[in-house]
Amino acid sequence: MSEKKAQLTIDGKDSPIELPVYSGSTGPDVVDVRSLVGEGIFTYDPGFVSTAACDSDITYIDGGAGVLLHRGYPIEQLAANSDFLETCFLLLNGELPSAEDKTAFENQIRQHTMVDEQIHQFFRGFPRNAHPMAMLCGVVGALSAFYHDTLDNDNPQHRMTAAVRVIAKMPTLAAMCFKHGVGQPFMYPQNDMGFAENFLHMMFGTPCDPPRVSPTLSKAMDTIFLLHADHEQNASTSTVRLAGSTGTNPYACIASGIAALWGPAHGGANEAVLEMLYEIGDESNIEDFILRAKDKDDPFRLMGFGHRVYKNYDPRATVIRGICDEVLDELGSDNDPLFRIARKLEKIALEDEYFIERKLFPNVDFYSGIILKAIGIPTSLFTVIFATGRTPGWIAHWNEMLSNPYRIGRPRQLYKGHTKRDYPA
Ligand code: CMC
Repeated sequence: MSEKKAQLTIDGKDSPIELPVYSGSTGPDVVDVRSLVGEGIFTYDPGFVSTAACDSDITYIDGGAGVLLHRGYPIEQLAANSDFLETCFLLLNGELPSAEDKTAFENQIRQHTMVDEQIHQFFRGFPRNAHPMAMLCGVVGALSAFYHDTLDNDNPQHRMTAAVRVIAKMPTLAAMCFKHGVGQPFMYPQNDMGFAENFLHMMFGTPCDPPRVSPTLSKAMDTIFLLHADHEQNASTSTVRLAGSTGTNPYACIASGIAALWGPAHGGANEAVLEMLYEIGDESNIEDFILRAKDKDDPFRLMGFGHRVYKNYDPRATVIRGICDEVLDELGSDNDPLFRIARKLEKIALEDEYFIERKLFPNVDFYSGIILKAIGIPTSLFTVIFATGRTPGWIAHWNEMLSNPYRIGRPRQLYKGHTKRDYPA
């Protein structure tokens, strides 16, 4: 139990309310305000900027220092030495796998890459021009209709099977979202390929033209998935936890995470970055856009800059910036006008007082958007890629919550509407 205490004095109350203070293994202490409801008081924290909603052992972020740890391992070290599936194992199980466990986990994922043929019918029901996130959200939610045998949330084995299923099927579904939009046949997964290689195969291969997936692009894709694998209690993960707290099934929870991720302030930012670069159109227009971003009367923001938590360089952005150079180099895209605009924008923003003062650095989405565009992935699919990468984080948090005592998430409010009034006679 906590030895530290906080005291809250409220005008009109005789004695201060004593609240326990807890320390985590690192990071800020938290004041336990749960008893306040008994005093007839709620805390007020729109946007949850000062609220810890749960205990977690999965991911730690120190935004001021630019630190991101998964189960204690720095993201830079995972990006350099690990791969996406190993990081999935780490997030789910708490430790890096032995060589044997790694192979077993990869084999498990391989067994679950295909989707039921009925899912093909779901896709055919969508208009060709449906947004890929609309399809992904619907189809992932629908997976619960296929796996009645493993939907007991209280059974740890069922939870792990759901985790493996959803991680394994996401690249297949992501590629199906693309293929449906362009009117090409769906490609079946090739289980002798690596995770990212298989994804690129399902994206760019056709039955008449077996794709040649470049190792540099596969590696870049794998690292993009890895860098997005988890980010503690962000909006979509909190949404997954909140949905999960009602006891609903894992596929419905992941679908709710996908829905939350879709917004431009969250996962939609990588798509918004590209749209912004197209809108800028020419290097000569950059200054105007920078001025607009600084203008308080203009809602325009530089997409791909700033972060709620990182008030320092996002460590994922440092890794991905290097990959961006490698990919542009391999594809010979360095001279593409769009990428030249991106580079110049980055340089100007990093030197501009407005951005420096507010600690608005390029975030991971700024570079991931550029890499994905260079690989040939259409912008409308960018958030689907983010969702594919983030799935292990969502499911690890869902599993962590269900493995411990939890309550349904139910925030309160500061009510400012009418007080009681009578319906007009
Ligand atoms: N361009 C221009 N000004 C900005 C930007 C930006 N991208 N981001 C923040 N500001 C300004 C903002 O106007 C405010 O200025 P002032 O103090 O003068 O009022 C100050 O910086 C603080 O902004 P805030 O809105 O209080 O910051 P926040 O923590 O609520 O918002 C954010 C974080 C990521 C939503 C925001 O920076 C933003 O909208 N960025 C662009 C969208 C984006 O790239 N999102 C991806 C986030 S990373 C991926 C993920 O985790 O999902």
